[in-house]
Amino acid sequence: MEDRVVSAALKREDREMEGSLRPRRLQDFIGQNKVKESIAVFIQAAMTRKEALDHVLLLGPPGLGKTTLAGIISNELGVSIRITSGPAIERPGDLAAVLTNLSPGDVLFIDEVHRLSRAVEEVLYPAMEDFALDIIIGKGPGARSIRLELPRFTLIGATTRAGLMTSPLRDRFGVIVHLDYYEVKDLVQIVLRSAGILKITIDNGGAEEIARRARGTPRVANRLLKRVRDYAQVRAKGIVDREVAREALQFLGVDPLGLDFIDRKFLNVLIKKFSGGPVGLDTLAAAVGEEAATLEDVYEPYLMQSGLLARTPRGRVATPRAYDHLGLLRKNDDDRQLGFW
Ligand SMILES: Nc1ncnc2c1ncn2[C@@H]1O[C@H](COP(=O)(O)OP(=O)(O)O)[C@@H](O)[C@H]1O
Ligand SMILES: [Mg+2]
Repeated sequence: MEDRVVSAALKREDREMEGSLRPRRLQDFIGQNKVKESIAVFIQAAMTRKEALDHVLLLGPPGLGKTTLAGIISNELGVSIRITSGPAIERPGDLAAVLTNLSPGDVLFIDEVHRLSRAVEEVLYPAMEDFALDIIIGKGPGARSIRLELPRFTLIGATTRAGLMTSPLRDRFGVIVHLDYYEVKDLVQIVLRSAGILKITIDNGGAEEIARRARGTPRVANRLLKRVRDYAQVRAKGIVDREVAREALQFLGVDPLGLDFIDRKFLNVLIKKFSGGPVGLDTLAAAVGEEAATLEDVYEPYLMQSGLLARTPRGRVATPRAYDHLGLLRKNDDDRQLGFW
């Protein structure tokens, strides 16, 4: 219980920090150069034509900058942004209220857009396509439908689960942007930028050590930076160099591949309880003690990207590299003492 309260508090702290670290302009958005270039072109074209930007769909795992990009796009366009999410729009009326309150050119950001209900999606289609709202008045045989015009707006949808989106919805986005895990050199820049904002003294070595273990994810890099700072304050006069970062990350239970406690538990359970698979996700999730959806969204993409996990039609399988990785850790007594196991 207390654990949960503490972790909720930590999450709130993380969220607040996230806001202050969010780049506001495209030029401050680090890495993802192809994505940045194409967004810059679309924005410029729309502004030259004095039209609303085409609807944009942002795809990719959590923490890669989808929400940040939505904010940047509205800033660059010089328009307002309304932020909501799939599960927050419960009824078609909720969506109608949001849509009728938009001004011409505005951005409507719908996070977790794959979680919109079918009834709400039906309202969204004509809104996206014809900038119109079809409203049914009356009931039974006397019912009739009237069409309400909406201002031209830009819908930005974000999702971690493109596969769960209906194709009619996906097809109505003119611009589809895939965000991929970041390269270490970009994460180094992100860590240095965030350290500057948070007034943390860090050198390149320290930034690189954090970046290498950040799972290709800016949100993780920022979070690790902050925890490393705490450690450095208490143990190293507040200065983060490579050695301090390495000690701190080991202390935090983040291993050299960036795997945390749950990643390792996932692989351990898969290997020890299910002989390395194949095993179904739900069975695995129950044994690990996490929600299947969390494992699928947050943990599996990085484990697969790191070549530690494979998905087969018959279930999840640990790769030889996973055995090696855990085996290497097992030989390291320091790690075991620090609670890796
Ligand atoms: N390209 C980037 N450059 C700098 N910081 C970034 C970048 N992408 C993400 N971040 C930071 O990482 C954190 C998470 O980004 P966010 O946009 O919330 O991710 P998502 O919406 O995809 O889960 C934010 O604090 C954001 O400032
Ligand atoms: Mg987001």
